This record gives sequence, C-alpha cells and structure tokens, in this order.
Amino acid sequence: MTATMTKQALTEDEALALYTNPETCPADKLEPIPLAEEPAFIAWQRDIPKQYLDMKPEELDVRISHARAKLGERVIILGHHYQRDEVIKYADYTGDSFKLAQYAAAQEKAEFVLFCGVHFMAESADILTRPDVKVLLPNMAAGCSMADMADPDDVYEAWDIIAETLGEDVKVIPITYMNSAATLKAFVGEREGMVCTSSNAGKAFEYAFERGEKILFFPDQHLGRNTAWAAGIALDEIVLWNWLLPDGGLTPEQLKKARVICWQGHCSTHQRFSVEQIEKARKEHPGINIIVHPECRWEVVQAADQNGSTEKIAKAISGAPAGSAWAVGTEINLVNRLAKQNPDKTVFCLDPVICPCSTMYRIHPAYLAWVLEGLLQGEVVNEVVVEGDTRKWALVALERMLALP
Ligand code: 13P
Repeated sequence: MTATMTKQALTEDEALALYTNPETCPADKLEPIPLAEEPAFIAWQRDIPKQYLDMKPEELDVRISHARAKLGERVIILGHHYQRDEVIKYADYTGDSFKLAQYAAAQEKAEFVLFCGVHFMAESADILTRPDVKVLLPNMAAGCSMADMADPDDVYEAWDIIAETLGEDVKVIPITYMNSAATLKAFVGEREGMVCTSSNAGKAFEYAFERGEKILFFPDQHLGRNTAWAAGIALDEIVLWNWLLPDGGLTPEQLKKARVICWQGHCSTHQRFSVEQIEKARKEHPGINIIVHPECRWEVVQAADQNGSTEKIAKAISGAPAGSAWAVGTEINLVNRLAKQNPDKTVFCLDPVICPCSTMYRIHPAYLAWVLEGLLQGEVVNEVVVEGDTRKWALVALERMLALP
C-alpha cells in the first residue's frame, strides 16, 4: 500500500477552519489533509479513487444503500455521536465511545464492522470483536489529536521516572482514556490498570484506588482532573505531568503528595469552552441548563449544571420537559442534531463560533461508498488491525472496563 498524503503542514486550527467551512470543504474537495504532526497510522491510508470525490450526494446515497442491501448482515455500521448527519443516517448503531465498544463486543453476526468514528475507536472495536471480524475505518486520517499527545515512549519514560521517585512501596495504577493508542491500552492492561471512557471514569478511579495509592491518568488532563475532583480529591493532590519538561516538570515532593498524576493532553474542541460563555448564556437565557462534556476544563465543568459523556448529554436533553433550554459544551454535529431532534426545546452550542471535531469530520459519505463497494468486490479497504501482545493486553484493559459494575 502506498502512503498518499500530501505533506502539507497545517496547524490544527488551519485544518479545522478548512474542514468546517463549506466553501473550502465541499464534498468534492475531500482530499485528506494531514495535521502538521501526522500520526503514524496515516501511512496505511490508500488513495480514495477520484470518482468517489466527484459524486453528488444523491449518487453516493444510491450507491451506499445498494452496497449495504447487497452485503446484508455481513456488515454493521457503527456511528459515533460526533459524526455528521450525512453519515449518521447510515449507522445501524449510534452511541458514545463506551456504548459503541459494547456493541462491538456483543455483535455476533457481521463479518465486517464499518466504524464511523476515529482511529482509536476502530482499534478498540477490532480488539473486542472476534479475530475473524474485520474492522474498517472509512478514512484512516480520522485520528484524534488528544490521543496523539500521549506518545507511548513518553508514557513509558514517565512511568519509570515515577516508579523510581516513589519507590517500590508505592503502588501506582495506570488508567488510560479510551482516546489513546492500542499500545497504551496494552500498557495499562499489563500493569493492573484499565481503559475508561467519560461515562465510567469515576468507577475506573474507584477500581484503581482499591488496588493502589495513586493513579497515572492519560492522555486527557481535564477528564483526569474532573474525575479526581468528583472523587473528592483536592486540587493540590492532582498534578500535571508535562511530558515536554524533564521529570514531567514535577518535584519529587509534588509526586509524593499527588494522588492523581494527569498527563498533559487535551481535546482542542472541548478546550474552547469557557466560563465566560456559560455566564453569557445564563444572562441571556435565565433558567437555562448548562451541560458540558468532562473533557472541558475544570472551571467550566464547575460552572456547568451537569457534565457527562455524549450519550448522557443526548439523554438529558431528549428526556427534558418541553420548553426547557439547554446550552451545550460539546461538538457541534451532536449539538445541532439534538436541536433538530428536540424542536420543542431550545438547544444551542455554548461556543458561538463553531466547535467541530476536525478529525471526526474526515468521515464523509464518499469514503463509506468507497469502502462498502470495495467489500462488494471482495476487497477490504482501510482495515484496522491490532495483533499480538498489544491485542492481548489491550483486551484485558478493555474487558476490565466492560466488567465495571
Ligand atoms: P464520548 O465517550 O462521550 O462519546 O466521548 C468521545 C470523545 O472522544 C469525546 O471527545
């Protein structure tokens, strides 16, 4: 397979602007454009034939529907809540990252799982499905910049330094957020740790504190801090490991005092939400409910009324009384969909500009048509495969999460 990416160094903000502006990102200009720091897995990306990029939405719709009908139960399509409407309409199952992992683990019939989400979700689905099931990510450039902030070598180095500083008697349990590479899931699996998502991070922390004194949590500092705080841990016992600095920028005393060591990583979409936006929404809409994702900063979560996973946000709004108003701190495709699905309520995004997940946005119906028609012709395009010890130990870490009460 050939790597086909143009080595065009875009900053994340530039890529975001490009991908979310209909002027610069119409369906027919969907060449994958990498971020400045391209994750290694993009090397597996194959060229999407130009004919798919030239197709009108109506033609793509006919071709996708035809391929799905022909493939029948051989394929299931999973769609994360952040996928755009044009993609989510084809999903057999939608959900947050935990629910989609559960679907992948429970599915028995399909030979192929088409994962409309990002790379780490497809990897997890591959680990959780039978070895003969093939998991496909329609566009391999759909990564996660937060996951890329935890480079496995940096994590291994941090782990060794922390162990050396604290000594043998202090047990640290590593927890990785679902938004991480399979190698890191394997790393925690091998060390009594586990994977968590935003819907079960609190329970994962309980599990860890039953087994150890401290937690090393990566890669999202905000989910780590918000979860630790909700578990009753004071802010001065939650420290930040800055992987750009020697010894994470922490003194031995800080490490010894800490109960939770958070990795310096974040989600660029959720970091845009601010307390000022919440104050403005409250001022303009007295009585409004503010709900945010726990990948938002601690002070934003504190200022909100509720926080939770994408599934929790969707359920809270769908189950709310008619006439209620909701300002939401998460990705725009989900917020817009919730607004459409709940016409009897006021639902809007806290960020007045736009806050899409630029990598989720890389899944487009053109890629679905390409991958599905490939399957019809007996060709497996963009398969995500996790093998060997990585698969074995990552499965241990994922199964610990799935077994949480
Ligand atoms: P959820 O598990 O809440 O769907 O979150 C996934 C994610 O990546 C949020 O940025």
